[in-house]
Amino acid sequence: MATQRGGFSSRLGFILAAAGSAVGLGNIWKFPFEVGEGGGAAFVVMYLAFCFILCFPVMVAEIAIGRKTQRNAVGAFTALGHKKWSIIGYLGLTSGVLILSFYNVVAAWAFGYFIEMVMGNFEIGQHFGDFTADFIKVGAYSVIFMVGTAFVVSRGISGGIEKAAKILMPTLFVMILALIVYALTLPNAMEGLKFYLIPEFSEITGTVVYSALGQAFFSLSLGMGALITYGSYVNKNDNIVSSAAQITLVDVGVAVLAGFMIFPFVFSQGIETNGGPGLIFVTLPGVFESLGDVLGVIVGSLFFLLLSFAAFTSTISLLEVPTAYMVDEKKVDRTKATWIVALIIFAVGIPSLLSAGAVEALTKFITLPGPGTLDFLSFVALIASDTFLPLGGFLIAVFTAYIWRKENFNEEISHGDEEIKGTWLQSYVDFAISYICPVLLGAIFIVTVLDNYFGVKILNMLLG
Ligand code: PHE
Repeated sequence: MATQRGGFSSRLGFILAAAGSAVGLGNIWKFPFEVGEGGGAAFVVMYLAFCFILCFPVMVAEIAIGRKTQRNAVGAFTALGHKKWSIIGYLGLTSGVLILSFYNVVAAWAFGYFIEMVMGNFEIGQHFGDFTADFIKVGAYSVIFMVGTAFVVSRGISGGIEKAAKILMPTLFVMILALIVYALTLPNAMEGLKFYLIPEFSEITGTVVYSALGQAFFSLSLGMGALITYGSYVNKNDNIVSSAAQITLVDVGVAVLAGFMIFPFVFSQGIETNGGPGLIFVTLPGVFESLGDVLGVIVGSLFFLLLSFAAFTSTISLLEVPTAYMVDEKKVDRTKATWIVALIIFAVGIPSLLSAGAVEALTKFITLPGPGTLDFLSFVALIASDTFLPLGGFLIAVFTAYIWRKENFNEEISHGDEEIKGTWLQSYVDFAISYICPVLLGAIFIVTVLDNYFGVKILNMLLG
């Protein structure tokens, strides 16, 4: 079975692919604008706490479930003998389809900006709205992006996904470091760092809490079975807990570094921090322009190329989740499955594509009591990443601790890693998955739903 499905050729290959899934638009596009809207450093503190305290144990659980069963996000639960719980897998498939449907549009913006920078069009930052409204152009870029993604996924695990990640991930890292060095030399860089690093705890509201949680799940690719799926390709002798720790550290590290790059840029340009999804797209072209024609083109195109790379290793993992489901459960040939799923997701994403200025009714799509008026893309993001992912995480924790049971979970994580038994890390994961994750994730999920969709602000009342 395992040989037919394919698998990662090495532990490093798995870590890079999983880190490639985690590191993406979530770190470089979404994290900075969420920090900007969430009041700066206070959001960062919440986000970091959630990543390590709540998400890390869920990541270990996802990888363990995947590796134990060698199945996709739906089949894994059936393979463990709990068919009813495969509802978690279906929820995950839904989240994955929804997330990729809008993610591909933002990836197309990034890719489009790469082309604009190559052509030296620094004015694009002031015309971000016109750019996103041009659905023919953005549509063409998003077709390119989806086709590229499907191409890699159709080639399978070690030949496609792993190979792409091995080249792209290290390149990305080096590029970010270089840009930070430049950012820190700019005027007002220190103001940017203060906003980013010195928390004002009065800024913490209910919205900050749950958007930080949604962001943590989104950024770590958790709560929808992406890591169950990737975990299913992991070798039985690999060490799950330390792999999960490395993936978490890399992902959080890149997000934190992205902030060091973006906030000095934003403050040096005198731009408002609460610019929402347009933040980096509006801010950065001006920064690159200030470098002069030649250097500006080089650095600007490198940056958006980097962003497209980061997005690409994430779209690959998003597409892999429903594809693996079709391959395992519906016995569809991998190539065929990939292209069918990609086509469906592209179609689902069309309203998101049209919701950034092209069609008025989609641009001002819905007004909710919590977040106010949202475009279609932001609405899908709210449902999928801020609502479904934490719900998925909650269910995965409950399933692992109380249905699959901890003995089995602990046995799987000590497979390939005898030394983990009795360490503080293993004791923490054990404790968190049984108590901390179910209680906090369950509570925050309820609060999120009440706040966003019904306008009941419980957390705000508690936080005073
Ligand atoms: N983690 C990815 C990012 O930050 C997005 C993603 C979410 C990928 C869920 C896979 C699953 O960009």
